[in-house]
Amino acid sequence: MQIQRRNALRMIGGGVIAAATAAMTACSDALPADAVVAWQGPGAEADLRHWVLAHAILAPHSHNLQSWLVDLREPDVITLHMDLERLLPETDPFSRQLVMSQGTFLELLDQAARQRGYRAEMQLFPLGAFDRKGPDQRPTARIHLLEDAAVLPDPLFAHVFRRRTNRSPYEMRPPSAQALQAIRDAVTGFPVTVGLTEPSQAAALNVHREIAKQAWSIELSTPRTLLESYKVLRVGPKEIAQHRDGLSLNDPMVRLLTTMGLFDRTKASAPDSHAIQGQIKRFNAAIDSTPAFFWMATADNERVTQLLAGRAYVRAQLAATAHDLAMHPLQQALQEYPEQKQMRAQIHQLLGAQQPGQTIQMWARLGHGPAVGPAPRRSVQSHLLHA
Ligand SMILES: Cc1cc2nc3c(=O)[nH]c(=O)nc-3n(C[C@H](O)[C@H](O)[C@H](O)COP(=O)(O)O)c2cc1C
Repeated sequence: MQIQRRNALRMIGGGVIAAATAAMTACSDALPADAVVAWQGPGAEADLRHWVLAHAILAPHSHNLQSWLVDLREPDVITLHMDLERLLPETDPFSRQLVMSQGTFLELLDQAARQRGYRAEMQLFPLGAFDRKGPDQRPTARIHLLEDAAVLPDPLFAHVFRRRTNRSPYEMRPPSAQALQAIRDAVTGFPVTVGLTEPSQAAALNVHREIAKQAWSIELSTPRTLLESYKVLRVGPKEIAQHRDGLSLNDPMVRLLTTMGLFDRTKASAPDSHAIQGQIKRFNAAIDSTPAFFWMATADNERVTQLLAGRAYVRAQLAATAHDLAMHPLQQALQEYPEQKQMRAQIHQLLGAQQPGQTIQMWARLGHGPAVGPAPRRSVQSHLLHA
């Protein structure tokens, strides 16, 4: 994730406060080439499994943690595990979003396999699902790649390399009815209900905006959730190229301040600091420049459902991309840490998800945004177990 210079710094008198927080973006053209080389694709990679994995790693993942570990010891099989070193215990205490982010990977893997005429036969949680507390070593999926003349390519695959999470302000013109229908159609067959709140629903849009703003403010003012983002913040080309994950901040001033020891990522900025207040102001401006909201609900919150919700989300995002629409998830109000309890209740009430188990799995801004660059990715090799 990139952080804009004006988003990142505040000067107070002679002092300097640097704010690098988790949901900001900027052009990543300036990112080190190695960090984004994955977006050039696998080229003529001869090994089918490596080829499909080179597409799967382009999936969206919460905090860009890329918590995917892959076992290739069984021929023609890819066994996917959660990387237990890459969790978000503060903002995602039950790892719901981490499981969704396994699903996004599986969806792109499936699309890539289809492209090559292979069926990706998937067993989800083949040794049983994680319990509510969190992930363990058991695989999230076992995927057998089988050549199949009957398999059809997925038209969404064409947009895999163009898909971006776009946190910029959007134009206020509404998405076309055709685009919204394509987003709905993209999740057909998945156990999710897609909702879209459009410009004609002015009152509802305003409630969306208020909840998003309050939830963001809570996240930034809660030291441990802010620090969780700071922990995966990569400042400057050296750190970005070294990690190729997390939240990238490449602004020259922030780099300088970091070098000078003036930006301390071990301490949460105070809620009333210019840094946090400025951040909130800019986030609110982005929210105000949002013509539509997308959301996705499920009837239960089982692990398999979370995984399928991840698959559905990236399909919806690819369909949006196909229509030049940008998406920006706003997960704060959906998160399960105690400080968000009220926001979580409000968004579930607003979206009519109040039956036991009913869960809003994804909530996002939707609109026409400016072009943004790709986020870093680690290499396929770095995801391989027993490599
Ligand atoms: C389950 C899930 C939750 C996410 N939540 C947020 C969020 O709350 N805010 C945000 O800015 N991005 C969110 N994202 C987007 C990721 O940060 C993004 O996918 C990652 O930084 C990689 O960037 P890319 O999608 O452009 O490849 C989420 C993505 C997923 C899959």
